[in-house]
Amino acid sequence: MDTIEVIMHRRSIRKFREDDIPPEHLDQILHAAMQAPSAHNLQPWHFIVIKDRALLIAIAAFHPYAEMLPGAPAAIAVCGDRLMESSEGYLALDCAAATQNILISAAALNIGTVWLGIYPRNERMTQLARIIAAPEHLLPISLVAIGIPDDTKKPVDRYQEDRVYLNKYGLPFGK
Ligand SMILES: Cc1cc2nc3c(=O)[nH]c(=O)nc-3n(C[C@H](O)[C@H](O)[C@H](O)COP(=O)(O)O)c2cc1C
Repeated sequence: MDTIEVIMHRRSIRKFREDDIPPEHLDQILHAAMQAPSAHNLQPWHFIVIKDRALLIAIAAFHPYAEMLPGAPAAIAVCGDRLMESSEGYLALDCAAATQNILISAAALNIGTVWLGIYPRNERMTQLARIIAAPEHLLPISLVAIGIPDDTKKPVDRYQEDRVYLNKYGLPFGK
């Protein structure tokens, strides 16, 4: 599939096989993550690959929408480094771009993912930071459950013509 096809077909996967992700695929996904754009190109991110089942279970115990985690072979916590923040607010955006790269590159490799919301929920950030032993300056922004899919989902077309405008809000873009 080409890039556009991968983007149009990607869906959140919440059911995984037990098998580990091939290490070379995980490596490619982490390379793709760090290839993301970032404000001032500061690349203010750290990635914690969590494979310890006890930790995945501990995260699912506090996160309200992470019931798939104990059944996933791994998760990647994307953390922003406050010591490298270019200016207020960019850290989360940079990490979101890296997170999306994880989702898209994984989909291209037939690896399933689901983005689990962490930032801006303080309670989730604090709990995840404790579990992954993140120092104070590291802010957990997102968590991605990842593994070989044990589920197939049809692509959905979400294009909404009436959400695109030409030059000014309200003026139809048309075709
Ligand atoms: C910021 C953000 C937070 C999300 N948090 C969760 C979550 O906590 N648990 C979950 O199962 N899915 C979560 N999702 C996945 C969305 O539910 C999913 O992307 C959306 O329903 C669209 O479905 P699709 O990814 O299959 O296209 C999150 C997605 C984003 C972008």
